[in-house]
Amino acid sequence: MNIITFGTFDVFHVGHINILESAAELGSRLIVGVSSDELNRSKKGRDPIYLEQDRIKIISSLKCVDEVFIEESLELKAEYIKKYKADVLVMGDDWKGKFDHFSNLCKVIYFPRTPSISTTEIIEVVKSIK
Ligand code: CTP
Repeated sequence: MNIITFGTFDVFHVGHINILESAAELGSRLIVGVSSDELNRSKKGRDPIYLEQDRIKIISSLKCVDEVFIEESLELKAEYIKKYKADVLVMGDDWKGKFDHFSNLCKVIYFPRTPSISTTEIIEVVKSIK
């Protein structure tokens, strides 16, 4: 079974590895769409700290990940699901309900987010250090 998930995965943290490991356990092949720098700018209103080629290198190096591609546009999710023959789409539950319309293409599963950690929070903490 092919599993697909998407994210920016900027300033890689334990919440990221938790969802990737949980996703990988659902099938035999985990495919990860990593947001391009441009997509991150439009989605989150800021430049990522790590550039896309570095984020891709980090995600590709993980034992639980089999294939990585750049997600260029949020509008192309259905195309990516079809292209990579995904049986299951996994997202964190901050996206709960937002991808239900893909259930005609594959199963859609939301995992609970790891509490108390996010890229945004890490950036804020680092900024506040004097
Ligand atoms: N994620 C998670 N638990 C966290 C943080 C992220 O399960 N504590 C999941 C998200 O739900 C998503 C994936 O990791 O499915 C990639 O999330 P991403 O937006 O790249 O990370 P965040 O830390 O949420 O980034 P930001 O603070 O910039 O929104």
